[in-house]
Amino acid sequence: MCGIVGYIGNKSAKEVLLSGLKNLEYRGYDSSGLAFLQNGKIEIIKSVGKISNLEKKLESMELDDYTMGIAHTRWATHGGATLLNAHPHQVGDITLVHNGIIENVDVLKEELKHEGICFQSETDTEVIAVLLNKYLEKDVLKSINQVMNKLKGSFALGIIVKSQDHRLYVVKKDSPLVIGVGEGETFFASDITAINTYTNDFIFLDEGEIAEITKEDVIVYSNLHKVEKKVNTIHVEAQDKDKNGFEHFMLKEIYEEPSVLENTLKKYLDDFKQVPNLSKYEEIHIVACGSAMYAGMIGKTLLEEEANTKSIVEVASEYRYKKNIYNVKTLVILVSQSGETADTIAALRKAKENGQDTLAVVNVKTSTIAREADQCIFIEAGEEIAVATTKAYMLQVAVLSLLALKLSYDKKIVTDIDSYLSDFKKIPGFVKNVIDKESICQKIAKEIYRCEDVFFIGRKIDYAICLEGSLKLKEVSYIHSEAYQAGELKHGTISLIEKGTPVFGIITDKTIAEKTISNIIEVTARGAKKILITTDDLNQSMDGDLSVATINQFLQPLLIVPILQLIAYHTAKLRNCDIDKPKNLAKSVTVE
Ligand code: F6R
Repeated sequence: MCGIVGYIGNKSAKEVLLSGLKNLEYRGYDSSGLAFLQNGKIEIIKSVGKISNLEKKLESMELDDYTMGIAHTRWATHGGATLLNAHPHQVGDITLVHNGIIENVDVLKEELKHEGICFQSETDTEVIAVLLNKYLEKDVLKSINQVMNKLKGSFALGIIVKSQDHRLYVVKKDSPLVIGVGEGETFFASDITAINTYTNDFIFLDEGEIAEITKEDVIVYSNLHKVEKKVNTIHVEAQDKDKNGFEHFMLKEIYEEPSVLENTLKKYLDDFKQVPNLSKYEEIHIVACGSAMYAGMIGKTLLEEEANTKSIVEVASEYRYKKNIYNVKTLVILVSQSGETADTIAALRKAKENGQDTLAVVNVKTSTIAREADQCIFIEAGEEIAVATTKAYMLQVAVLSLLALKLSYDKKIVTDIDSYLSDFKKIPGFVKNVIDKESICQKIAKEIYRCEDVFFIGRKIDYAICLEGSLKLKEVSYIHSEAYQAGELKHGTISLIEKGTPVFGIITDKTIAEKTISNIIEVTARGAKKILITTDDLNQSMDGDLSVATINQFLQPLLIVPILQLIAYHTAKLRNCDIDKPKNLAKSVTVE
């Protein structure tokens, strides 16, 4: 999603802003732009497509003397990816960049059109610039505050006022924004990875705050009153941004799964007491989006089946608007790689407002979710660069499985804990053995890459695994794919099965394996091409296409995960897709 960077200091703003934009590329974008101010003169340069296009434009321009500016990567919401819609937007004395969505844009635009104002772009952002310019007075803070009160929705803003050569303004409401404090220079950005090469000192703005930023100072206001802000010193580990010989980050990140699993699990397995005890909760809600929600589906199944605890999984964008969901003492678990997913943040805040305890299973330690949840378990996946999640999803599943095992143990359901823990210790090796089956995944990819529709079926935990396998395939290969509970297919969807339609059967749960097999027989009778992925013991009685080691129920899903990821990867490769940056997708979904 959109990314913002801003700089004021003595360095070349162009260099700082470009390096920041490049570090925000992973969030997903389709145009970019920068604005500089010097001696009352504003320069704006924008470009559609990759940041390299913007760089090419900048090459021929003399911009090195500019020492303050704002920059933006845009992920189109209101209006297509065009130069006119790209940020920054300039209206009169105001130039700004925006991340978020203005929900009352139509009403505001209508009012302004009646006043004779013509809009140049289709964006919601231009309305903010128009309003700020309209209400601009000597006291800029007052003007910004006035405009903020008119806006509904989410907005992180970086603002240049033409008459103020030595000052930038930033605003934060429901969109991420962090300020970096340097020596004689100040930065701001949508996330710290954009600016952490320059400073380790950060100020996190709270909702509704405005900051006035100069080279030397950051003054933060809430409702026009100065507020003291803590400067947090954070050393972000240097990330390996290299593909290390892999053709794509997605493949590299799949191959990293054994080592990240080992690293994350070790701490908890060496001291199992560190895993939170959840036995006081009558109900557990797991709330997340996309793959993180599908990790939650596996967690829910384990919590219910193995720890006898009522659990629900909800998509955060629905959960945040639901009524009457807290009837008993509930733990709300938020699962998020980025920790900045707008809907998941809203769900977290709803749970807290309702007095429920919250636990975040999160990757990015400096994220909003990590900062706001009552308790965190960090999945420690390291930076995930491919837009489609792989290693972070794997670790989300592993951590949820660990929580379920701990709850089962605390409730005295699991007694032979040592044997379970010993399996957990072996899991990185098992996952590595599965990844070694890449050539079989490649072969399966060759069989499906020309197809238009693919189905994944399974029951119970196998259905939860199917959901992510199907999402992974469609998001990177652009093949239409759906996951179904195996028994549900014949209630409608089976009409789509034709000769040669691939149907993946995921069968690891022995208690229900025969039922799924029957459903596979039903679809093959109608011409489907079955692809069976199962465990070594079940495979003795079925002719599966790929089988993995049989391990305890808490861990079995972890062995299917890389297989489905590798099949998605190789299918996308055969279809020449932009694997690490699939079209229309963003890594960090910071709007509703
Ligand atoms: C799919 C994918 C998304 C994310 C979802 C939630 O590969 O990456 O479905 O899982 O957008 O993101 P986070 O985990 O950052 O909250």
